[in-house]
Amino acid sequence: MAANNFEVGFVRRFDVSDIDKVVEIANNSLTEYYTSSLILDLFRSWPSSFLVFALEGKIVGLIVGSRHTATEARILLLAVDKDFRNRGIGKQLMDSFVRACIAERMMSIRLEVRTDNQEAIRFYKNYGFVITSTIRAYYSDSSDAYLMWKMI
Ligand code: ACO
Repeated sequence: MAANNFEVGFVRRFDVSDIDKVVEIANNSLTEYYTSSLILDLFRSWPSSFLVFALEGKIVGLIVGSRHTATEARILLLAVDKDFRNRGIGKQLMDSFVRACIAERMMSIRLEVRTDNQEAIRFYKNYGFVITSTIRAYYSDSSDAYLMWKMI
């Protein structure tokens, strides 16, 4: 039987040589605009939290976080190339991110998500995040965000 392509993919740490593909996925998936220099700044601020999903030499997903406090991490960007969604890649990125957070003694994770982003909200809820508040006009187009939170 032919091997499923998704079985050969894996999560690994971001490498600077991944930058062009990461910027492409971020800008095709998210509504804010991300430059290479901004994404490289995020990488330098917490390198071990910046993870990508590699599939046969190609990057198809990414997650990057920041240290919100000494014990609380924050997910800044999570995106999977639209051709590769609903196959468990987002969950694998989250699982690895959580492990990286635990390794650094983080106890919780927070994130902001657009209130109209039903796909991502459902994904986060199924992962155990809860909505704790609404942040009015959080995004550059004045859209609102939900603040979501999870104990790890
Ligand atoms: N067959 C069928 N369904 C599956 C399979 C499979 N083999 N594997 C997983 N699924 C289902 C999961 O159960 C899950 O269902 P749920 O949404 O009801 O929980 C669904 O597929 C998605 O799970 P994953 O496949 O693990 O996640 P995915 O790789 O699709 O990534 C993500 C999720 C990142 C939200 C993706 O939809 C995306 O990139 N969206 C656009 C960008 C975005 O909105 N990012 C979040 C913004 S907020 C922020 O960045 C802080």
